[in-house]
Amino acid sequence: MKEAIYKNSSFTIEILYHLGMYENSIHFIFDHESKKCALVDPAWEADLFINRVKDKGYDLTDIWLTHWHGDHINAVDEVADKTGAIITAGINELPYLSLNNEIRTVKDNEIITLGKTQAKIINTPGHTAGGICFALDGHLIAGDTLFVFGAGHCAMPGGSANEFFHSMQKLRQLPDEMILHCGHDYGSTTRTTMGEQKSGNPFLMIDDEDDFVRYRNGIHDVSRAYPMQAMNKNEVYAFL
Ligand SMILES: [Fe+2]
Repeated sequence: MKEAIYKNSSFTIEILYHLGMYENSIHFIFDHESKKCALVDPAWEADLFINRVKDKGYDLTDIWLTHWHGDHINAVDEVADKTGAIITAGINELPYLSLNNEIRTVKDNEIITLGKTQAKIINTPGHTAGGICFALDGHLIAGDTLFVFGAGHCAMPGGSANEFFHSMQKLRQLPDEMILHCGHDYGSTTRTTMGEQKSGNPFLMIDDEDDFVRYRNGIHDVSRAYPMQAMNKNEVYAFL
């Protein structure tokens, strides 16, 4: 299994890639001091996750959800039932989430904590109505809002390419050195920064909302293939 580890002073992010039939990327956040772990979008392999956290001597106390799609949440109830972990999701995603366990909702710009580790909630509707990104110190966990040189679709209930455009404008404000973590490994690399994405990901490069909507709902899917490569601005605008 493909894995990656990113160490920060107070936390470590570990990623397992290509899980399940939709090849999801699963993110573990380990807070060093409290020995608490948050699991982002647990799907497909509940026991694998639970045992991995236990084997490291950590407690799986939190489940953070980027959005409601089944390939991101189909192990949430099992993990919560077996660990007692608290589930956190964006408040606008609540109508779309059907889980047996209680859900703690969060709002835009709210700060949540895992021991000494903090994550800021960024509402990024568009892929879904209430999708959120988690901004940690130097790292963005984006679910399906951004992929490496790509982005999620807006085709399922709650999706909106217009809202997605405005979410992208928010993400363009993030620091260039911030490392991006995505819900699927669809790009030419897994290791990338927001700076590389701002200058190579068409979803962050289109300035006009109508152009963006046409690109998202038509042009993108018929003109680009996996693994997604960086594009320059001339190449992007030649499509529009
Ligand atoms: Fe999704």
